[in-house]
Amino acid sequence: MKLTELLPFRAKSLEKPMIEAAHAAGKVLLAHFNRKLEIREKKGAGLVTQADLAAEKAIVTRLKKARGDFGFLTEEAPEKHGKGKGRWIIDPLDGTTNFVHGFPMFCVSIAAEWEGQIVAGVIYHPILKDTYTAVLGQGAFLNRKRIQVSPTSKLRDSLLTTGFTYRKNQWLRTEMDSFERLSGICRAIRRPGSAALDLAYTARGVFDGFWERRLSPWDVAAGALLVQEAGGKVTNFKGEPFDINAREILATNASLHEELKKTVAPEFCEI
Ligand code: IPD
Ligand code: CA
Ligand code: CA
Repeated sequence: MKLTELLPFRAKSLEKPMIEAAHAAGKVLLAHFNRKLEIREKKGAGLVTQADLAAEKAIVTRLKKARGDFGFLTEEAPEKHGKGKGRWIIDPLDGTTNFVHGFPMFCVSIAAEWEGQIVAGVIYHPILKDTYTAVLGQGAFLNRKRIQVSPTSKLRDSLLTTGFTYRKNQWLRTEMDSFERLSGICRAIRRPGSAALDLAYTARGVFDGFWERRLSPWDVAAGALLVQEAGGKVTNFKGEPFDINAREILATNASLHEELKKTVAPEFCEI
């Protein structure tokens, strides 16, 4: 029996309030975009502005109304209330640095978790009015049209994407080593600055693969489901099943997974 059949509600029923919450947050973000912002630096975790906080409030208010029994894991408040089996995992603004500098690659990311399994995900890219949705076992969609990962089968033909952690001292060298190895093999690598959009663009077949270290659950929960539901593969760097708490992610169109894994983190490969 599929997990979605064991849920005491239809996983699909979560989608509507998630989309409404994401759109409400997107509206808040657009109202602040390219305006004067109060910017604060979080220790080793990037920037936060009043737009992040207001967008998070808009989401939490709506989702509390939709399902009072769900708890929350949010980036900015860490609201953790709720003892039930369900939980919302929220990044109200993924790509805050882009947002602060007026670069339009930023989004809202919301996932629904039930007993530790992500069952639904929504990513909203407000500048383009692009809404990505996925429900476990039911496919991935962009503006209600089904999306699929790319058919690319050779790394040398691939367009990849990645990101670098804010903790530069500790990780920069390792990240640069992976970047350099892959730069020599693939067609090109992009570094757009929003992990959730990196995953959404991998799910829709624009990017062939994505990897990043030191991410948090709210960066990846919705996007990882999108990639899987679009036919892709998502693991840690050892190739083990993906866990949102793992802090590292390798997401591909499935065909390139093994080859990309070996090049990103050769230390985990058997000799
Ligand atoms: C960040 C973005 C970025 C990634 C960082 C994340 P934030 O999230 O996803 O692409 O490289 O590691 O923390 O701080 O903008 O929500
Ligand atoms: Ca984020
Ligand atoms: Ca954020």
